[in-house]
Amino acid sequence: MRKAHKGSYYFPELSNHEEEIELLRQVSLTASELEKSIFKELNISKKAKILDLGCGPGFISAQLAKFFPSGTVTGVDSSKELLRQAKIMQQVEMLSNLNFKHGDIYNLDADVSDFELTYLRFVLQHLKNPVGALVSAAKTLRSGGILCAVDIDDEQSQLHPAPAALKSFNQRAVKWQAASGGDRNIGSKLKKYFLAADLLNPQVMVKTLSSRDIGIDNFIDLLIKTRYPVIPDAEQEAAQKEVEEIYAVANDPVAWGTMDIFVATGIKR
Ligand SMILES: C[S@@+](CC[C@H](N)C(=O)[O-])C[C@H]1O[C@@H](n2cnc3c(N)ncnc32)[C@H](O)[C@@H]1O
Repeated sequence: MRKAHKGSYYFPELSNHEEEIELLRQVSLTASELEKSIFKELNISKKAKILDLGCGPGFISAQLAKFFPSGTVTGVDSSKELLRQAKIMQQVEMLSNLNFKHGDIYNLDADVSDFELTYLRFVLQHLKNPVGALVSAAKTLRSGGILCAVDIDDEQSQLHPAPAALKSFNQRAVKWQAASGGDRNIGSKLKKYFLAADLLNPQVMVKTLSSRDIGIDNFIDLLIKTRYPVIPDAEQEAAQKEVEEIYAVANDPVAWGTMDIFVATGIKR
């Protein structure tokens, strides 16, 4: 099992690096319209200086750089391998307003500062100390800057008709993510954490991603694949059986699902 202090996402210990990067690409593409609607509602200047904290392979950093072409975007991540991928992507896409930097969210360099927007997408759910991470993330902002965290709460996700295996798979994934220091049900706690981190005017809105928008296959992928890596080898076989039962629902013409994406914002004093 991965070391607890690393939280529940430690890239070097994931079993299949290429698959994981491909999954992050798929998630960023299937949710890109939703992501754009978040960027729009943040109401920041088109020339903003933006930080994508926990940027991974940089797919969201690239979306930010394209959405704010007159702004500048910096992606920071603790995984050197993911940053290497991000830099390749940045060169291929020729995004001159995008750069990447290595850093640990709990211990960022002093020059990671003065941002108008700091964005954390699917990062807090993996961290042992989300409030500590938010305090640290707030330090990257100029006064009046916006901290925005996008995350999930699996208790609010639905798949119908619900196979019995969905409940046991959910419980398994939540249990193992928690064992590594993460929290897959963090979405509904974000406002409380933003207040604890002393951000001004914390607000939470919910955006719903549905099988109608992204197709039932993509929807089940999001439900399953993003949680699979936290399950230890000893439980992979049992989890695999559950997963097969869950994927079978995609063949049912009446199948549908929704997933609530929690978007929390707060302002730096
Ligand atoms: C699920 S991935 C999300 C990546 C990206 N934000 C996205 O939405 O595609 C979580 C990311 O958080 C990063 N991460 C985890 N702990 C971190 C830490 N302490 N400091 C910086 N990044 C961290 C991981 O390396 C990984 O890239």
